[in-house]
Amino acid sequence: MKRTLIVGNWKMHLNVAQSSLLVARLHKHIDGHRDIEVVLAPSMVALQPISTQIDRRRFRLAAQDAYHKDEGAYTGEVSFHMLRDLVHYVIVGHSERRIFFNEGLDVVRDKVSACVRNGMTPILCVGETAQERAGGETKQVLHDQVVSALSNLTGVEVANMVIAYEPVWAISTFGGQIAKPSDVVGEMAFIRHQITELYGSHVSKHTRIIYGGSVDDHSARAYLEIDDCDGVLPGNASLNYHKFTGIVDSAYKMNRDKKDD
Ligand code: PGA
Repeated sequence: MKRTLIVGNWKMHLNVAQSSLLVARLHKHIDGHRDIEVVLAPSMVALQPISTQIDRRRFRLAAQDAYHKDEGAYTGEVSFHMLRDLVHYVIVGHSERRIFFNEGLDVVRDKVSACVRNGMTPILCVGETAQERAGGETKQVLHDQVVSALSNLTGVEVANMVIAYEPVWAISTFGGQIAKPSDVVGEMAFIRHQITELYGSHVSKHTRIIYGGSVDDHSARAYLEIDDCDGVLPGNASLNYHKFTGIVDSAYKMNRDKKDD
């Protein structure tokens, strides 16, 4: 069984002291759970101190980005290679990276490859803008983002990775319109279908596909109930102790209800 994945993307919020405080509070509430995996993505500067603070049976860490070259004269960058023993996951191709930092398909592809080459699991973010959706281009955009990002990976590597469907228009940064589960079911199925086309169903059924875009404690369960949805990636809500633990509780509760059925 795939473990339900909940990834809190803290973006450029919370300094080291604030991050540490939130982690201490989360420790009190979130227990290790066989079926649920809770991942925190603090800022780069907080990763090291948080890595010594967290109980790794309860939390895993993700970096929010990294640079695809292993080392060299790239002032200001941190490589995947440097993150190897620190984090389990790296978020790659987040729409804020694609839009604010002009990361194109080739950069995202190189980052996904570097992540895997260095032994970490990419959480590849894909999603269409409002304009692309209005223009009927959603499937083409998702196809291009998925096919190009996976182009250097083997089936086993794709089976182990995570793809986050994050419609850009639903992310709080870009307006945060609410995408109802019924608005995203087809897109999530389409992403899995793309993987099936490329690698076969024995691979695609293992790949975890998660949803992100203004998910909070009230809406998480409805997304988690989507057939092709294996987890959620909250941004804003993950900064709030009550909202984030509420999201984790929704996943606990859903798993329990399923077992009772
Ligand atoms: P949001 O962010 O939950 O604040 O919309 C999600 C994301 O950008 O990953």
